[in-house]
Amino acid sequence: MAIIETHDLTKEFGKLTAVDHLNLSIEERDIFGFIGPNGAGKTTTLRILSTLLRPTSGQARVAGIDVTKKPYEIKKVVGFMPDSFGVYDGMRLREYLDFFGAAYKIPGRKRKAIIDDVLALTDLASKADDFVSAFSRGMKQRCCLAKTLLHDPQVLLLDEPASGLDPRARIEVRELLKTLRDMGKTILISSHILSELGDMCNKIGIIEHGQLLAHGDYREILSGLRMEREIRLRVLEGADRAAEILAETPGLNNVDRSGNEFHFESTIVREALADVLHRLIQSGVKVLFFEEEEGTLEDVFLHVTKGGI
Ligand SMILES: Nc1ncnc2c1ncn2[C@@H]1O[C@H](COP(=O)(O)OP(=O)(O)OP(=O)(O)O)[C@@H](O)[C@H]1O
Ligand SMILES: [Mg+2]
Repeated sequence: MAIIETHDLTKEFGKLTAVDHLNLSIEERDIFGFIGPNGAGKTTTLRILSTLLRPTSGQARVAGIDVTKKPYEIKKVVGFMPDSFGVYDGMRLREYLDFFGAAYKIPGRKRKAIIDDVLALTDLASKADDFVSAFSRGMKQRCCLAKTLLHDPQVLLLDEPASGLDPRARIEVRELLKTLRDMGKTILISSHILSELGDMCNKIGIIEHGQLLAHGDYREILSGLRMEREIRLRVLEGADRAAEILAETPGLNNVDRSGNEFHFESTIVREALADVLHRLIQSGVKVLFFEEEEGTLEDVFLHVTKGGI
């Protein structure tokens, strides 16, 4: 069942169309990567889904609730983490969370237990009595996520949660997102840093100029958008013979050899590619690897976006 759905969602700022007839469908328990260059319309979309902005036209529903018709109901099911957050001078982490817990109308007697839970989940328990303003960027990010989790929202909208984090902190974010998914939450996460999303998401949508250019299963998008397969071949013996075979096979292009290793592009069908491997082995070439190289999200991105922002 789709838990986030938009239909021709459009937002205009004067003459500028920031979100242009966007049709999104995100299933329950997806970790959906919303990627696009600066100014593509990611934040605008997230702000509409969290009722901070009204769309110019079109519809958006979260958990079956229309965002423009029942904004208060939406606030209960959605947790929005903005891409930048204010620093609260002189506030300790527990006070900060208590303040927002009160704002979410969580009764005082329940608040402490809930705060302890989110502190444990975000691995911030040992920092509960530290000043928020003294936190590093990664810790501030986690602290903001802790705040977003206080009212136990079904859907998390995270705007660039991994930006500016070091690789270790990114891995921690990834693990945390998986934990949240396992708890039954659906996560929409935006980024323009493509490689950081690849291993976090099962689905991606690529947006540019407010329009969705590609949308679907992460791996399908990666393989479907590439016209050619890149193959890597490494041999132990018979490299010269291998070079001859690659050169005489139609549909194998740009063969690049360095010693016993070859890279080439293949436009032939998979069965024909399997035949190439068979011929190599039959001709006495000792094959160590014969494998397809995975495309990266960057490849896909450059392929589908025109880069006009
Ligand atoms: N309040 C506003 N008033 C006028 N124009 C706006 C407003 N908010 C956003 N825009 C414009 O809408 C477009 C989309 O902006 P948005 O912030 O949604 O992009 P984004 O994909 O989040 O980009 P980034 O990666 O830089 O965060 C941009 O051209 C931006 O200048
Ligand atoms: Mg943004």
